[in-house]
Amino acid sequence: MYATEVVAQPWDNYSREDHQAWATLFRRQRALLPGRACRELLENQERFGMSESHIPRFDELNVTLRQATGWELIGVEGLLPDDVFFGHLSQRRFPVTWWIRKLDQLDYISEPDLFHDLFGHVPLLLNPVFADYMHAYGCGGVKATKLGADALKRLTRLYWYTVEFGLLRTADGLRIYGAGIVSSKGESIYCLDSPVPNRLGFDLRRVMRTQFRIDTYQETYFVIDGFESLFEATREDFGPIYADLLTSEDIAATAILPSDNVHHAGHRVRDVAAGGAAPALVIPG
Ligand SMILES: [Fe+2]
Repeated sequence: MYATEVVAQPWDNYSREDHQAWATLFRRQRALLPGRACRELLENQERFGMSESHIPRFDELNVTLRQATGWELIGVEGLLPDDVFFGHLSQRRFPVTWWIRKLDQLDYISEPDLFHDLFGHVPLLLNPVFADYMHAYGCGGVKATKLGADALKRLTRLYWYTVEFGLLRTADGLRIYGAGIVSSKGESIYCLDSPVPNRLGFDLRRVMRTQFRIDTYQETYFVIDGFESLFEATREDFGPIYADLLTSEDIAATAILPSDNVHHAGHRVRDVAAGGAAPALVIPG
């Protein structure tokens, strides 16, 4: 059962433990993420004035956010039905869960909480291109809800593999921009350092065909070259793409196709299409 109404952030009612949970998570991730998360995400947390001293106030964040990109945070109880969620994004409103996980749940919770939303999602809403991408995504979602379950499945995969679990290629190596990763200590390390998952160049149709796991770290991450190129690659009308993909098989989360470009930790180590062999893995220090 979903709660769909917008709720005011009950800031005065947060307990000392709530602020302590925020402080612990904030301190831990801020120590871990330099050199892992994309620089702008960390800089934007500072621009918002986020610190470990207290849970940020939505109304204060909104002053900065409205002025920068016209987005606004709204408080919600938790996950929203697709149509309500897309409707908010299409109006440049980002739903943020008002409650934070308990101190004994720091490493895993099964649904998004305030830390995931504020620390992970909100900083990039200050980036004008990413802000426009999120808005376009919401508008695409409004259309997809009218097209049916298959279109929604494709669009959800795009969100999952970009907004939640995306990696970004930079001159300094791969960097995290997905909120699902930056709000997780374990996955912030695993996604860049582990030899297990695939890191594949972003391709819209490929992403829309790729299954994902929600109960463990990802088996595949898709790497974009920048927010501009992500926005460009997703600018077209998805209607014909959904129709084309109706006859395509889903791709397992573990699969690598001959056409994939495979990355590892900032180094493009092989081109499967060219039959190149992977050199020894380089684990960044
Ligand atoms: Fe999320």
